[in-house]
Amino acid sequence: MEKHLKPILALNGTITVPGDKSISHRAVMFGSIADGQTTINGFLTGEDCLSTISCFKKLGVHIQQDGEKVTVEGKGLAGLNPSSEDLYVGNSGTTIRLMLGILANTPFTSTLTGDDSIAKRPMNRVTQPLMQMGALIDGNDSGNKVPLQIQGGRTKGIQYTSPIASAQVKSAIILAGLEGEGITSVKEPVKSRDHTERMLEAFGVKVENDGLTVSVEGGQKLTGTHIEVPGDISSAAFFIVAGAIVPNSEITLKKVGLNPTRTGILDVLEAMGADVSYENVNHDASEPYGDLLIKTSSLKGTTIKGDLIPRLIDEIPIIALAATQAEGQTIIQDAHELRVKETDRIKTVVNELKKMGADIEATEDGMIINGKTPLHGASVQSYGDHRIGMMLSIASCIAEGETTLTNSEAIAVSYPTFFEQLKTLAN
Ligand code: S3P
Repeated sequence: MEKHLKPILALNGTITVPGDKSISHRAVMFGSIADGQTTINGFLTGEDCLSTISCFKKLGVHIQQDGEKVTVEGKGLAGLNPSSEDLYVGNSGTTIRLMLGILANTPFTSTLTGDDSIAKRPMNRVTQPLMQMGALIDGNDSGNKVPLQIQGGRTKGIQYTSPIASAQVKSAIILAGLEGEGITSVKEPVKSRDHTERMLEAFGVKVENDGLTVSVEGGQKLTGTHIEVPGDISSAAFFIVAGAIVPNSEITLKKVGLNPTRTGILDVLEAMGADVSYENVNHDASEPYGDLLIKTSSLKGTTIKGDLIPRLIDEIPIIALAATQAEGQTIIQDAHELRVKETDRIKTVVNELKKMGADIEATEDGMIINGKTPLHGASVQSYGDHRIGMMLSIASCIAEGETTLTNSEAIAVSYPTFFEQLKTLAN
């Protein structure tokens, strides 16, 4: 689909961004392997999370989805049945990697596939440790690429030191360890998002957290529960930056998830001088949340690296756009993981923002942006990557002239109401 986007003079008003993608996936997955019913409120109806529902339905779980409300009739891990069809994960890395962890303990063979983007993404970061635990996995490129076949069984706990900070890797191993023999632990180089740890506790599982190491004992059962999904800060990020860079703007975003492993973008924008304030913050919820108020701001460049990177990895495309509107230089480094996201986001961000007039250069593990530069309309594309599509749509708000965005349908992966909400704020 092609969108013709015009500049916007101001963004004003209040919106509630859709539910958090990471939390929505986990609520369906953990509900499916729990004993008893799980109810979910605020579920993200984006394509990625619908892929998770579709896969668990194929494994015999009864799931009823009515918009943002979902009911999962958990049957316990032992209650999952083999699927007669392939488990198709669409564009979703979280679905495939976490599901591999769950399927490591099911005594049958499953075949997992996905779209063209998933076909390029590395799976050995998960399949290698799962094979060490005893799962039998085969696939393209020695089990690194889909289609993947996994034959589960009773796994053995491992003490795994992950070379990368990845919540998908950590979660897959911990999920495999839950049914495995003995203790499973994962040590990360830098702490990644901790939704799995928090949610497992809500399902009655004991999880040990010791600095950068997370451990579980095998043989623990999950018990169905209720999950409230806060708004996705990774979706809110597009409007946080839009509020800061579009002139005469004042935006309120209601009930945005504020889990500290996800709020790196707020720290960066504060360092850049953005006018962001908080209201109605609830720190006591299992997943903290609050309202965010953003006003047009004068931004300055900054350096983003090290431990901060996993706390804002999905927000780097939109942070790069903010940096084009900041005075001075912004340096993003230690973000090599961007190369293996839905697209190579170093390449796609730099290519497309350059077309709009940005002064931006790729480095091996990040980018360097010099600001502030006026942007102009251009013919750009999402490359099928939802976050690239949304970043370019926000760029078009401040660009001179019309921007044509191709493959805009990719945005429905995580934010099906994105253009409606943009329109609400633009009126
Ligand atoms: C996610 C973890 C991150 C993130 C992805 C969602 C999750 O990926 O980029 O969008 O829900 O666990 P990595 O684990 O590869 O860092």
